[in-house]
Amino acid sequence: MTDPSRKKVLLGLTGGIAAYKAAELVRRLTERGIEVQVVMTEAACGFITPATLQALSGNPVFTDMWDTRVASGMAHIELSRGTDAIVVAPATADFIAKLVHGLADDLLSTLALARECPLLVAPAMNRQMWDHPATQRNIAQIKRDGVIVLGPASGDQACGEVGMGRMIEAEEIAEAVSAFLAPKLLAGARVLITAGPTFEPIDAVRGITNRSSGKMGYAVARAALEAGAEVTLISGPVSLPAPAGAKVTQVETAAQMFEAVKRHVARTDIYIGVAAVADYRVDKPRQHKIKKTVEPQLQLKLVPNPDILGWVAARPKPPFCAGFAAESRNLDAYADQKRRRKNVQLMVANLAQQAIGADDNEVTLLDDAGTHRLERAPKEVVARQIIAHIAKLYGAKRRKAK
Ligand code: C5P
Repeated sequence: MTDPSRKKVLLGLTGGIAAYKAAELVRRLTERGIEVQVVMTEAACGFITPATLQALSGNPVFTDMWDTRVASGMAHIELSRGTDAIVVAPATADFIAKLVHGLADDLLSTLALARECPLLVAPAMNRQMWDHPATQRNIAQIKRDGVIVLGPASGDQACGEVGMGRMIEAEEIAEAVSAFLAPKLLAGARVLITAGPTFEPIDAVRGITNRSSGKMGYAVARAALEAGAEVTLISGPVSLPAPAGAKVTQVETAAQMFEAVKRHVARTDIYIGVAAVADYRVDKPRQHKIKKTVEPQLQLKLVPNPDILGWVAARPKPPFCAGFAAESRNLDAYADQKRRRKNVQLMVANLAQQAIGADDNEVTLLDDAGTHRLERAPKEVVARQIIAHIAKLYGAKRRKAK
């Protein structure tokens, strides 16, 4: 039986070379737990076979209005029933023009007209077709009609030219679609997140840091954005792309992270400290590189850094506070001690040896109600569960305050 809470997308393909990216898109959507029903125009079948998309989506692919597999004989109505969104990728200039005029001469365009759900399109075409005033008029019109336009991007085109019109990548489309479908649990909430390690200089070239890739913090930021929050991300040095839609401040040291948090905290409803803040910094780092020929032995004096999360939680009117605890043993006990000591509503505990740098994570949520263990899953999935839990606790806190 299909899970009734599972989101369902009808993915339409029209006839452009970017149709090859649709195979990847189906995978990216199903990986995110979205059920995909593919519908192709006749022209799309010239670029990629229905068999490929059927195998990847696990559902029969439809191309024809008169398909006898649909019991009612009305594929154009039946196929989009219970669908959360129709996504057309690639969407050709011709298909977009048809949308403007409400033309319905094949299965996909008829579904687009007869739909009850939102429509998202990812245009894909040669740069001259994209720049043409007719296409620009059409794009403006479909936006006015409420269609969501994803992309296009600029770059190398299949025709050998370079310019605007290429379809955005499958991952970007999947990300936009899953964000669009996510329940807006944190609509209107201002969320401040710290992520990544901090780097504490020893001299001009050396420093001490914590092992943290920033993946978990960035995933939490994306999940909060998906949930409709306004997100500010204060990030230590990582090599990750900024989450689209977040205001990002880059910092290096714990002191800089603290200053950035102080600047934003008054306008924060929810603070999530994911950063692996270095507990110590070097007292008086040297301006120039220390020469080992001059100083064969070196002693460093380390002084404690401020506890940023503890400081936020101790403010007179603190935001809702959540922290992350990475431990190498006695996970639950140490994490709960930390939760109580720092006086935060939620502590997310993970084993350092399992979490650091990995793409997936297994965490336990500790709050006043006890412990909740989450199954091992990709950090994206774990982040969404954490955000859902925070939204629940934050909602309860607000109700109590009223
Ligand atoms: O390092 P520790 O295990 O105490 O980290 C627990 C939580 O406290 C994390 O959320 C981390 O971001 C935060 N923290 C902080 N400032 C520090 C140390 C930790 O905000 N100096």
